[in-house]
Amino acid sequence: MENSIEQIQDDGLAELETAADGDAVNEITVKYLGRKGIVTRFLRNISQLPPEERPAAGKQANLAKKALEKAASRALERIAALEAAAVDQLDVSLPGRPTNQGTLHPVTRITNEICGIFARLGFDIAEGPEIETDYYNFEALNIPKNHPARDMQDTFYISDNVVLRTHTSPTQPRVMEKQQPPVRIVAPGKVYRCDSDLTHTPMFHQVEGLLVDRNISFGDLKGVLTTFVHQMFDKQTSLRFRPSFFPFTEPSAEVDILCVMCRGKGCRVCSRTGWLEVLGSGMVHPAVFENVGYDTSKYTGFAFGMGVERIAMLKYGVDDIRKFFENDLRFLRQFRT
Ligand code: FA5
Ligand code: MG
Repeated sequence: MENSIEQIQDDGLAELETAADGDAVNEITVKYLGRKGIVTRFLRNISQLPPEERPAAGKQANLAKKALEKAASRALERIAALEAAAVDQLDVSLPGRPTNQGTLHPVTRITNEICGIFARLGFDIAEGPEIETDYYNFEALNIPKNHPARDMQDTFYISDNVVLRTHTSPTQPRVMEKQQPPVRIVAPGKVYRCDSDLTHTPMFHQVEGLLVDRNISFGDLKGVLTTFVHQMFDKQTSLRFRPSFFPFTEPSAEVDILCVMCRGKGCRVCSRTGWLEVLGSGMVHPAVFENVGYDTSKYTGFAFGMGVERIAMLKYGVDDIRKFFENDLRFLRQFRT
């Protein structure tokens, strides 16, 4: 018995859908729609059907013919697209497409390097909030309200009692309130001051350090910071401890590194001094220990706070700190590894 026209159409469509190439599509088209094709024969035989069946059969057969023609051109399109994609994959002569790969910002990279050096010396990493209370930013650090030492750091106030932290030092009392000695932490983060010139930006980064234990002396402070500088730069790097003042340390010292821009001769970057200040430090003031409930007869400690951008300037020979934050890709791309 002859197949119904619907069955013939379904078979043809199925064959076209899986046709692998243009020749196969042509063969299938001839098989169904050619002069001696299955659909053509069906149409021709309609005249032999009883008259009342002829219109419906003719209509069905024409629909089948159209459906198969459409399917054939769809199959050809599908095959052409596959062939184009295959050519694309195989064309080894095309130039490569560059990918725009991101890279760590130099400040992030130096921060990681600083923390890595202290981690190897046994320090843990701590963190504190950038929006800080007056208490932790100043008072817990022995800087009472209206004390002249507040002038050392030009502060952005959010309200009377809330500030953008001016340094990472508030992490000191925050950590000590939660933990008994021994304490050995570094705390990296952003800080804010109303400051702007070749070596100052209103937002910059510091890494705070704090070590508290029995019998910690200024010698330990000098040893740890000298080791740090020698690892961060190299053993030949000259540094000096310069007496200074912070209300939360006593005695206090700032550390300068010989200016790499002029090798100590004096230039605009080091304000003609030959040295660039990279950190403040000192022995933790007993008043700070008392604020967090540490026994000052048992424990001593040292603390420091270093400017990450200053270290990055010296490490990479950058003569203006503001370049780190202009986001000029020509500058940033130089730090790609
Ligand atoms: C402090 O901020 C103290 N908290 C450091 C400290 C910590 C002392 C613990 C004792 C114990 P000072 O204001 O000097 O100190 O800043 C520390 C470092 O931050 C400076 O040495 C400098 O490297 C960097 N610095 C300061 N102001 C800016 C600024 N506006 N832009 C970029 N770097 C800055
Ligand atoms: Mg200073």
